[in-house]
Amino acid sequence: MEFARQYGSWALVAGASDGVGAAFAEGFAARGLNVVLLARRQALLDEVAAGIRTRHGVETRALALDLSAPDAAARVTTAVADLEVGCLVYCAGAENDLRHFLDAPLEHAESMLHRNCTVPMQLCHHLARPMVERGRGGIVLIGSGAGFVGAPNMVAYGATKAFDMVFAEALWTELKPRGVDVLGLILGETDTPALRRLKVERGQHGSVDEPVRAADSPEDVVEDAFAHLAKGPTRLANRQLRWGSRLFSLVSRNVGVQMMTKASERSMGVDH
Ligand SMILES: NC(=O)c1ccc[n+]([C@@H]2O[C@H](COP(=O)([O-])OP(=O)(O)OC[C@H]3O[C@@H](n4cnc5c(N)ncnc54)[C@H](OP(=O)(O)O)[C@@H]3O)[C@@H](O)[C@H]2O)c1
Repeated sequence: MEFARQYGSWALVAGASDGVGAAFAEGFAARGLNVVLLARRQALLDEVAAGIRTRHGVETRALALDLSAPDAAARVTTAVADLEVGCLVYCAGAENDLRHFLDAPLEHAESMLHRNCTVPMQLCHHLARPMVERGRGGIVLIGSGAGFVGAPNMVAYGATKAFDMVFAEALWTELKPRGVDVLGLILGETDTPALRRLKVERGQHGSVDEPVRAADSPEDVVEDAFAHLAKGPTRLANRQLRWGSRLFSLVSRNVGVQMMTKASERSMGVDH
């Protein structure tokens, strides 16, 4: 009841058709909130939404749109204008093209920058104002260990994740005293369809139907997020990341870049 009072009556989850976003949508519904599920694949969204309604008896709204589109934020805010959105979770943001910056078209990086930085910033600006007026609410932005320090083959991706992390921290300083919780949830490897596809493409995993056993489960990171949402501003949801961040705090940024480059070569099979 306390959770629903702070974050209800609707949660808006961007990137809710699978993986971490779908687990967030399920988690909110299990706690009594209605859920807006947003992603590009309408049929899958409808399926996830129907399951949530059946299991939890809450209301859902499925919103099929591309967050890379120039007018994405305006379309989202128009589509939820009649709802009391008490919590925003922005999940969509993974990189699926691990090439050198110069080997991929600039449009790829620009589109990711828009989806990962501009749109969540626009949504926060629009949706946090009524939350502040109500004196309650929550915002979760998903970051990555790639945002700690620069590394090859994820040049623009890592930079967008650094933006998301610092943006969440800074927003927390302004909104927390006004009753709105903000959390930058930093993930390590998490067993989502996007991660499986990436690993299969790179020859590091057998099948998209098989779990990546060393990775965190979406359900676990979402439970961790709920446990830390009221604390903020940043939560490292992965044990290795927590260990790694302590290590990075002991070395200069330049040494950190070298360490991250080597780690990237080992874990992703990066060639450069
Ligand atoms: N998985 C990991 O190992 C890992 C590690 C570190 C950080 N993260 C972060 O965790 C978040 C979730 O990652 P993920 O692995 O679940 O993959 P993801 O591709 O970021 O998220 C998948 C969800 O986002 C939707 N989506 C993707 N692009 C979209 C777009 N342009 N417009 C609308 N919806 C879009 C997908 O549905 P549709 O395809 O139907 O649109 C799906 O519902 C991301 O921010 C990622 O950076 C993940």
